[in-house]
Amino acid sequence: MMSRVRCAVFPVAGLGTRFLPATKTVPKEMLPVVDRPLIQYAVDEAIGAGCDTLVFVTNRYKHAVADYFDKAYELEQKLERAGKSELLAVIRDVLPRHVRAVFVTQTEALGLGHAVLCARPVVGDQPFAVILPDDLIWNRGAGATKQLVELAGREQATVIAVQDVPIEQTRSYGIVATRDFVGRHGEISAIVEKPRPEEAPSTLAVVGRYVLSPRIFDLLEATRPGAGGEIQLTDGIAALLKEQKTLAYRFEGRRFDCGSRMGLIEATLQYALEDDTLAEPTLALMRQALGER
Ligand code: G1P
Repeated sequence: MMSRVRCAVFPVAGLGTRFLPATKTVPKEMLPVVDRPLIQYAVDEAIGAGCDTLVFVTNRYKHAVADYFDKAYELEQKLERAGKSELLAVIRDVLPRHVRAVFVTQTEALGLGHAVLCARPVVGDQPFAVILPDDLIWNRGAGATKQLVELAGREQATVIAVQDVPIEQTRSYGIVATRDFVGRHGEISAIVEKPRPEEAPSTLAVVGRYVLSPRIFDLLEATRPGAGGEIQLTDGIAALLKEQKTLAYRFEGRRFDCGSRMGLIEATLQYALEDDTLAEPTLALMRQALGER
């Protein structure tokens, strides 16, 4: 069932209201962590996992995402003439040559499940990854998507990334119940979208990384609006796990919720502290800020 995962789907049609007014004109996926937009981290993770077809599910307000992956002729010419070869490489590396980007429009905001369904004509009948760019996952070793893809191949299963969260946060996530865990993974027995703490089957929350069987498309076609009146990916997965092996996987890495302001600040600090030239001055700044308090 699980052959090579070539397609990665990026649902990027959300409104990003938590970052208004910036997101009035800048899609939230284009907000930077240090010097790269969130979408670039997500794309790099997909490519690192072996994907060569990137499907962006966008809407009419998200031209900036398509522009970002387009070739910037004038800028390239200017940098070339000025002999700025390092910068030239930086903008050319946004998308390696062997990778293609496909843009699909979600004309109505009907939910994450519907956004994933919009990618069906491109993905077809093969397993695929879904990456939510505002869940940024930092890693020293293999990226989170690569970890999921490897497990999906080994276990011939759908795999969903999960993380433990405090009980009062269950209403912000898809929450799974699992049978026994073997190391980092366990078979999912139930999944619910954004339950109240008293109704949550556990505190194991879905994080925005999935490797899905193409069977999910048929099931999403039949999925009726759920939590928040939207067609939820979680509800499609709830139907899938009745038919096929579906695993929850506690990934290695540190996740930042860059859909929230604190998450974006935390991620910025983490990536700055990992950068050879920024680590020292960032630490100095933090020490100074602490001293002033
Ligand atoms: C989506 C999913 C949810 C998942 C979350 C992870 O929710 O619907 O199941 O836990 O992403 O970030 P959203 O954050 O888009 O409301």
